[in-house]
Formats: sequence, structure tokens, C-alpha cells
Amino acid sequence: MAEALKMIEETPYNWRQDFPILSKTMNDKPLVYLDSASSAQKPMAVIQKMTAIMNDSYSNIHRGLYNFSQVLTEEYEGVRCKIRNFLNIPDSYSVIFTRNTTESINLVADSWGNEFLIDGDEIILSDLEHHANIVPWQLLNKNNNIKLKIIPINEQSSLDLEVYASLITERTRLIAITHVSNSIGIVNNINQIIRLARKINSKIKVLIDGSQAVVHKSVDLSKIDADFYVFTGHKLYGPTGTGVLIAKTEILNDMPPYQGGGDMIETVSFEQSTFKPPPHKFEAGTPAILEVLGLGAAVDYLVDIGMEAVEKHEKNLLSYAMKELQDIDGLTIYGDMLDKAPIISFTAEWGHISDIAMILDQCGVAVRTGHHCCMPLMKKLGIEGTVRASFGLYNNYEDIDVFVDSLQKTKRLLS
Ligand code: ALA
Repeated sequence: MAEALKMIEETPYNWRQDFPILSKTMNDKPLVYLDSASSAQKPMAVIQKMTAIMNDSYSNIHRGLYNFSQVLTEEYEGVRCKIRNFLNIPDSYSVIFTRNTTESINLVADSWGNEFLIDGDEIILSDLEHHANIVPWQLLNKNNNIKLKIIPINEQSSLDLEVYASLITERTRLIAITHVSNSIGIVNNINQIIRLARKINSKIKVLIDGSQAVVHKSVDLSKIDADFYVFTGHKLYGPTGTGVLIAKTEILNDMPPYQGGGDMIETVSFEQSTFKPPPHKFEAGTPAILEVLGLGAAVDYLVDIGMEAVEKHEKNLLSYAMKELQDIDGLTIYGDMLDKAPIISFTAEWGHISDIAMILDQCGVAVRTGHHCCMPLMKKLGIEGTVRASFGLYNNYEDIDVFVDSLQKTKRLLS
């Protein structure tokens, strides 16, 4: 079957060979990496870029008048432009570098939340959120005076938009939801969600967690009227330590700095300091220079391939995998719907999720097990966690075959 499908789907180039780690073994078996939703592997382009800078031209940025610093400053700032082009970000937005999605959301909660929210205001989240989009709002809400309202999932595990509409009031200040669920792969119709919010209350701000969206499809931010859109670099084939906050500049202008220090100031005296405009106002201290340049290399790599091609390939893999998994009895797949990201989250009536993951590991198959940083969703689903297989652009049909065969073997061992 895999052979036949491979003939149908001819990718112009074998992307897999760009990722050195994928030719390695794990537990003496060829590595089958199905944990890209947790963190993606890195292509040579990223590894070479970071190594080359350290070998040939490293320096601090924004500070030196010497050549290395000037050139690197230009390259670092150039990564903002690459991200702008990659996501078609309108000029009215700024691109801020953070450490990851978690820090991007904490920045908004801490700066915008503390500045603009008052007792009695309301924030709407959803059942599908990652802890990164729950805990920062709880920290902001120390005195419990801000109401967190939750859009529930329906029987298909997608968001119940009728209930959602009923949650929006005059006091709703923010809707913070994920574009794609990291734990079960559901794709939210964020445009419909944003339209509905603005129709009921035009002052509502919207934050979208795009961490699992930008990696799987072409996202056009000129067509998504979010106030804040965040994602993380390490899931986008870039290095750890890189995250991005894209936000409307007019909102950022009114937000106080998140952290204070070097690089974000215009003037400092012992009496007071003044700050640079966004994005620099929100980037205190020496940034993750190497890592941001690595992220730029990852974005170049993806632009070369084309996100449409990535999406098509991953969708083919997903439908192949879903079909093959039908042959295994006793599996419950969550978020089992047509429009979903290549994330398959399941439990099995014949085995505990940890035992399944451990046997898969012995077969060379890397999956994630547990609550996937979504404890409220797991509680809603009435389970402790799932086994999650998530695909990246480098996976192929052979990976799926090994995964399904290994799962069959796991079932035989555990039944
Ligand atoms: N957010 C990451 C995941 O879903 C870590 O696994």
C-alpha cells in the first residue's frame, strides 16, 4: 500500500534527507520520529547557519560599530522581514522575538492584561487550550476578579460555537484561543470565531496561538484579524529559545514593557527611563541572536519548499495513517474529523498509554504520551492522557507502516 501511495504522491524532492537525525537509530532501530507537535527536528540549513555564524562572524547585535556586529544586526532584523513575508503580515503589525509561545502569551498577559483589565472583565478561553494559554491568565487573575469563561467542546471535540456566542458579553475583553489543537489536532475556524466576537462586542481583543498551525499550512495573517498571533520557533524546524509575538502596533504602543534592561531603552537616568518603540520595547537584554538567525534559516527552508506542498504531503500521510489504524481493534482516536492537523491522539482498550509508548520506543518509534499540557481537555474527555503521533514534513509512508506494525505488535504483547 505504501508503495502504491508513494507513486501517487510524488514530492519534488526528498525533504527527509535534509534532516541528519532521521538517518540515526533509536534502540538499535531506524528512528521513526512522530513527535513533531512537541518539537520538530532541524534541517541542515538551520544547523549550518548557526554553526557558520559561530565559526565565522559571531558578535553581539545592536551595539557594535564594527563590521561583524553591524552585519549581524542587519541579518537579525532581516529575520523579522522573513517572518512578515512567510505569514503575509500587514504593515500595521510588529514582530517581536520571545523565547517561545509561552513567553509570548505571558508577555501579553503581563503587559496588556495588567494595563487594561479591571475587576469584572472577562476573558474567553477554550477547552482545547494548552497550559501556556491558561496559566498566564490565571496568574494575571491573582485576586480572582477577572472571569475566565471557557468555550466547551462538543461531541466531535470541536468548539461549540453556539455556547461560545452566549459567553460573549459587554465585559468580554479578550478571546484567547488556539488555531490548531496541539493534543488532538482539531483545526478551529478562527475567522468565524473572530467575526462572531467582533459582531457582538467590537472592542474585544483576540489572541491566537498559532504554534501548531504555521507548521502545517500556509497562514495568511492579512486575512485573520487577530490582535495578537503567537507561535514558537522550535516546532517550525527552528532552534529552541525562539518564539514570536505578532501584534497590532497601535496596541503595542500603549502597552508597558514586559521586562526592563538593555536594548529596549532610549534613555536611562536614576530618576526615569524612556523606551524604544515596538518591537524593541519588548526585547530586553541580549536576544537569542544565533537562534533567531537559525529560525530565519528555517523560514527560508520552508518558503523554498512551499507550505502548500507541506500541507498536501502531511494530509496524504494523515489519511493513510487513519486508514491503516482502522485495522487495529480497540483504539479510540480523539478529534477524529476531516479537517485536522496531522496529529493522531488515541487510547487503546488493550493497553495503558505509557506501556504502549514504551513498547513503541523499543521499536524505534518516538511518540508523546500523557496530557500534552492540556489537563483540562483530558479531564473533559474523561481520560488521563493519550498516545500522540504527530507528523512533520519529513515523515513518509514507511514511517506510518512501521508505526502501525509496531502498534500491532504492542497490541499482541499487551492483550
Ligand atoms: N506543546 C508541546 C506539545 O504539544 C510541548 O507536545
